Amino acid sequence: MEKFSAFRIHADEGGTHSGVEPLGLEQLSEGDVVIRVHYSSVNYKDALAATGKSKILRKSPLVGGIDLAGEVVESSSPLFSQGDAVIVNGSGLSEVHDGGYAEYARVRADWIVPLPARLRLDQAMVIGTAGFTAALCIHLMQENHQQAIDGPVVVTGASGGVGSFAVDLLHKLGFEVTAVTGSSQASDYLYELGANEVVARDWVESGGGVLEKTRWAGAIDNVGGETLSHLVRATRPWGNVVSVGIAGGTGFRLSPMPFIIRGVNLLGVSSSNCPQELRKQIWQRLGSDLYPGHIASIHAQTAYLEDLPGVFEKLLNNEIRGRVLVRLLKD
Ligand SMILES: NC(=O)c1ccc[n+]([C@@H]2O[C@H](COP(=O)([O-])OP(=O)(O)OC[C@H]3O[C@@H](n4cnc5c(N)ncnc54)[C@H](OP(=O)(O)O)[C@@H]3O)[C@@H](O)[C@H]2O)c1
Repeated sequence: MEKFSAFRIHADEGGTHSGVEPLGLEQLSEGDVVIRVHYSSVNYKDALAATGKSKILRKSPLVGGIDLAGEVVESSSPLFSQGDAVIVNGSGLSEVHDGGYAEYARVRADWIVPLPARLRLDQAMVIGTAGFTAALCIHLMQENHQQAIDGPVVVTGASGGVGSFAVDLLHKLGFEVTAVTGSSQASDYLYELGANEVVARDWVESGGGVLEKTRWAGAIDNVGGETLSHLVRATRPWGNVVSVGIAGGTGFRLSPMPFIIRGVNLLGVSSSNCPQELRKQIWQRLGSDLYPGHIASIHAQTAYLEDLPGVFEKLLNNEIRGRVLVRLLKD
């Protein structure tokens, strides 16, 4: 096979540098299935990895991209055959294994999810890890008895990838949604996705007590730090707060009182190492009862490998609303 294009990240003592390089199949991390990648996506973590803003790579160099969707072209596994349409998200891509920012990927069969019948490959990558994580949060909240009738659910970092899909999916399930955003231009967009109320970031803030007057029934938090602490302290009894991200910081102080007096649950979510059976279940739900209603509106732009450095910069500067699809197919 001829060389193909890949966006590769080199992270060593000298720093991090990344860009498009020619690569051969034999240079890719090992696996029993070769996929012709049609699409990937841009997540916060991809921007951190490629710019070196956080240490994401545990091995270098690696092809970037924690998501990919495409068609199987070679398989020595009985689980997949040539022509199968498939998704891989997380599972160590762009952490310890070459990721989705290349025309080909070689991965382990037990990381692969068959494309749900209702989704196209491009839609699956607009959803990507961000939409998968939003669906996983909601699934975990539901397993922990969160119901629409309990009251409003707050979504922070609402105009980002995870936030946009969280608003869309909660609305779809009949939840009242309060979208918290620092982007003054995002209101119309968030109402269109299904928010009942759109508020500024400081709306979450409460007093300094270990327990605050209850204001919401649950939350999906992309921000972390003090925001997460406020969210837990003002959640109604038996509500669920899911900690997803740290877009606003990592510092976090909390007394155990919300847990032991109100039975509030703080749930963790980790899409990267999600057990495979649960991963398949979540993608199945994204192709059925959790099929997002606003994939086209959340799709902000389509980028090519050469565009990625500019997209990463914009994402980290909070200048992107929704999701960026990465196209590997040649026009
Ligand atoms: N745990 C997991 O499995 C998992 C999976 C995916 C993502 N994540 C994490 O979840 C977070 C969101 O990921 P994403 O891909 O949705 O990123 P994204 O598209 O960049 O969205 C992040 C959003 O957070 C808000 N934000 C940014 N900087 C902020 C700040 N300084 N203070 C408060 N809010 C800020 C912005 O929303 P507004 O402008 O609307 O406020 C921004 O759009 C990231 O921290 C990411 O690493 C975790």
